[in-house]
Amino acid sequence: MINTFDKITDQSYALAKKGDPLFGAVSISGAKNMVTKIMTACLLAKKGKLIIKNVPFISEVLITLRLFDQLGVKYKLNVDKTLEIEPQSFRSSKVKFEGEEGNRISLLLAGPVLAQFGEATIAKPKGCKIGLRKIDFHVQGLEKFGTQIKETDEFLFMKLGAQGLKGTQFRLPFPSVGATENLLITAVSAQGESIINNCAVEPEIIELVKFLQRAGVEITLNGDRSIKVRGAENINLSEFTVIPDRIETVSLAAAALATKGDVFLKNAKQDLIVTLLGLLEKMGAGIEIKENGIRIFYKQALKPISVTTEVYPGLATDFQQSLAILFSQVQGLSHIHETIFEKRFGYLEVLNPLIKNNKKFTISGQCPKGQECRFSGQGHQHFAEINGPIEFGAGEVAICDLRAGFALLTAGLLSDGLKISNLKLLFRGYEDPVAKLKSLGADIELKI
Ligand code: EPU
Repeated sequence: MINTFDKITDQSYALAKKGDPLFGAVSISGAKNMVTKIMTACLLAKKGKLIIKNVPFISEVLITLRLFDQLGVKYKLNVDKTLEIEPQSFRSSKVKFEGEEGNRISLLLAGPVLAQFGEATIAKPKGCKIGLRKIDFHVQGLEKFGTQIKETDEFLFMKLGAQGLKGTQFRLPFPSVGATENLLITAVSAQGESIINNCAVEPEIIELVKFLQRAGVEITLNGDRSIKVRGAENINLSEFTVIPDRIETVSLAAAALATKGDVFLKNAKQDLIVTLLGLLEKMGAGIEIKENGIRIFYKQALKPISVTTEVYPGLATDFQQSLAILFSQVQGLSHIHETIFEKRFGYLEVLNPLIKNNKKFTISGQCPKGQECRFSGQGHQHFAEINGPIEFGAGEVAICDLRAGFALLTAGLLSDGLKISNLKLLFRGYEDPVAKLKSLGADIELKI
């Protein structure tokens, strides 16, 4: 398979259309939302070399490496998907993004940079435009560790008091993935013990906890979503492996079922998608769990279903886009109640004009009856009704966010011909998605 992530330009597009059901075997790559966090945690080491294995070739990794360049961190990304990191002294306390480029990782560098310089100038995180994506929990948490923070539109200017980073207790108002990771990494550099309450416990966070534990940090995860960390002078670990990407797993599984296909997802892990597998089972999908992967196959007409996205172990918000396309192929009414991000159904609005059989995706600001969520009464368009089966005609769409990108590719495989542009967003988080679909027999071409 050719790795194309660094060749995609603003002009690149994909052409997809209805063809044979997806069939065959494909490998799941390393997890996007884990690899960059482990890369950041490596910066807690003061010497030596750390090797991260199973690094996905996606531009999210490159964007993070460009932040490392500014800090002067040495690294080598090898063809065998290992990333060697030599975290020595940083040469700068400032990180910024170039042009349009960006991700959520800049903010996670705060702890390691503050620990060395006592100050940090950090570009505000960017990323998919799927909601407000406030950073108030990060700011409040870092302040509790003893950081003074001033904000401009683009940057956070941080300064430590005379006592440096000091251990603290902080309760997250909501189990935010990024804020949990940020405060865990910061806690390692702080003096004494810290307790973070109401943490997110997504599998990628558990991997971060495992990484820190193996690196010699005293860290305990409790049943009440609290994590206790004892600050450490240094961490020490030679290598760590990235788990398979559960979001890519679900994206491919949904595409297989939507095309009435039969695929084997090599390396896919049951324990990362238990909730989702239960849901597919309920719909009537064929599932075979093996030691080295998971087979997903269409065996009968699927049943419609209503789902709600939630923090882990609930159904991940990153799964709903591919599921919406799958639901569009099922006879009857399915629903998705999105409770993590305020505005994550933009891709359905993009698809509506392409529908040729008098159906549509209906998006509303109301919670389903009796299921009020924290967005209740605020008018955020966070509830989708999908009345299948939907038939997609021909046309053009531009990807509006990463996960929507794969959903649009899948819609393309059910259409009379779809041109999908803005691929940079897609290749930020999926490794060779077009080549993988093509290897399963999809009628899809990548035009670089
Ligand atoms: N939130 C705040 N204030 C904060 C932080 C978060 O109000 O300071 C809110 C957010 O606005 C959102 C909710 O808390 O409504 C959850 O956000 P969270 O912080 O958990 O999200 P994140 O860390 O920015 C990560 C993933 C996302 C994934 C979410 C939820 C990375 C790089 N990104 O984002 O992945 O959807 O957790 O699981 O890990 C993707 O891969 O496409 C993607 C968007």
